[in-house]
Amino acid sequence: MGLGDDIRRGLSAIRDADEVTVISHIDADGISTESILAQAIAREGIPVTSVFVRQLEPMAMRHVPKDASLKVFTDLGAGQQSLLEEHGLSAEEVLIVDHHVAQPCETEYQQVNCLDHGYTKMSAAGVAYLMAKELDPGNIDLAKLAVVGNVGDMMARETCGLVGPAREIVEDGVAAGNVLVRKRDLNCYGTSTRPIHVCLGYSDDPYIAGISNNTSAALRFLQKLKVQLKTGDGRWLVWEELSHEEKRTIISALTQQLIASGKETDRLLGEVYLFPDEPARTPLRNASEYATLLNACGRWAKPRIGAGVCRGDRGPAYRDAEYMLSHHRAIIRELLQYILDAGVTELSNLQYTHTGEKFPDTIVGIGAGMALSKLNWRKPILIMSAVIDDAEITKVSVRTNEWAIARGVDLQDAMMKASEAVGGAGGGHKIAAGAFIPKEKEEEFVNRVNRILKEQSALQDPDDS
Ligand code: C5P
Ligand code: C5P
Repeated sequence: MGLGDDIRRGLSAIRDADEVTVISHIDADGISTESILAQAIAREGIPVTSVFVRQLEPMAMRHVPKDASLKVFTDLGAGQQSLLEEHGLSAEEVLIVDHHVAQPCETEYQQVNCLDHGYTKMSAAGVAYLMAKELDPGNIDLAKLAVVGNVGDMMARETCGLVGPAREIVEDGVAAGNVLVRKRDLNCYGTSTRPIHVCLGYSDDPYIAGISNNTSAALRFLQKLKVQLKTGDGRWLVWEELSHEEKRTIISALTQQLIASGKETDRLLGEVYLFPDEPARTPLRNASEYATLLNACGRWAKPRIGAGVCRGDRGPAYRDAEYMLSHHRAIIRELLQYILDAGVTELSNLQYTHTGEKFPDTIVGIGAGMALSKLNWRKPILIMSAVIDDAEITKVSVRTNEWAIARGVDLQDAMMKASEAVGGAGGGHKIAAGAFIPKEKEEEFVNRVNRILKEQSALQDPDDS
């Protein structure tokens, strides 16, 4: 049975339903997944309502309606099947559309999970889109949202572009006319909205000596190249507005700078996805900026605003989303600075810190991901934070990179085992995972994670890496 078979089985459950409830995650992938699937289902004339939860944990189960609807869990559910079972949900009333590692349980819940078929570089929005397209080929306008979800969940990061089925979805977007591909463009966040020196100065992948982490140095570097950086009336140009020649001039200067400091140049360029139906110089124009806009809504408890934007609301929802985005950016910068200033405690195989009540638990994972390259990138970084509405619980976010994964690290496995051992619950991916644990078990938990990471690395044959 391939992914296509699972998709067809899942769709037959949807077609047979009198009513559907979509229960989705609050991040960019969760919001775009919900928007794809709920719109596709509504287009079939099936009544559909949506619920967003920040994580599928016992407290969140109260948002799952106890009614006759088919409950479609999206971008979550695979790793929490025993929770569904504990809440008395039967196999007939559940469909899971996900890309997380599945947790086996007695009840055989129906799943459409790309991970079951070996696709590790596709997010839930990609799976949802494949379902929408199978439901009606006319749904290819929704491929654009799948590109946002995939890019938002970092599926393009390691490969500097989407690959496999996620890349095929890009072609559907191109055919639909709302996705544009820039094949070898600058691999840098903010190319549609930020002044070019800000774009370069905020980026550290690849790390370019004398430019990364220093916007004034980046500006001086660009000024020397004599490229036009402002319009006639004094507005900063964004990268997307430059001519092909100007881009080439900058890229070749950046390449030389990398070579001069003995660094690889392969990550300087990547595939970039733009949306020609969106206004220029807005975050909606570019897949990675669009994804940040959705994250800003969802992670600050307003996923429905993001869902409105995905459905084309360019009035009130978009205005609110823009406000959320500027707030999100400011706090993320503060969070990153806090982590760097406070420093981390290093164990043999792990580095960790605690942000207490200073930042909402929904964003600390983003800070962990950003801090990793600025700290000891060889050791996974774990951040604990207080959960605002539950003093007994600590939220954990942990991040690593492909380098560590090649050496045996599996954060999903570590979070699941260590949290279970202290009476919590966790999961995610090899590269990015999280957990909820009892507050009084923090120290024991961290030591367990460190031990598991040590075992994982020891199990890996050094010749394999
Ligand atoms: O739901 P979960 O898939 O929702 O987590 C997504 C988060 O995990 C992203 O925001 C990203 O920070 C991180 N992630 C990553 N690399 C991956 C997959 C996820 O950094 N390959
Ligand atoms: O919250 P955070 O961004 O750190 O989550 C990273 C990944 O870990 C996500 O894919 C999320 O779904 C997963 N996770 C989980 N169980 C938790 C917390 C996070 O499976 N209790």
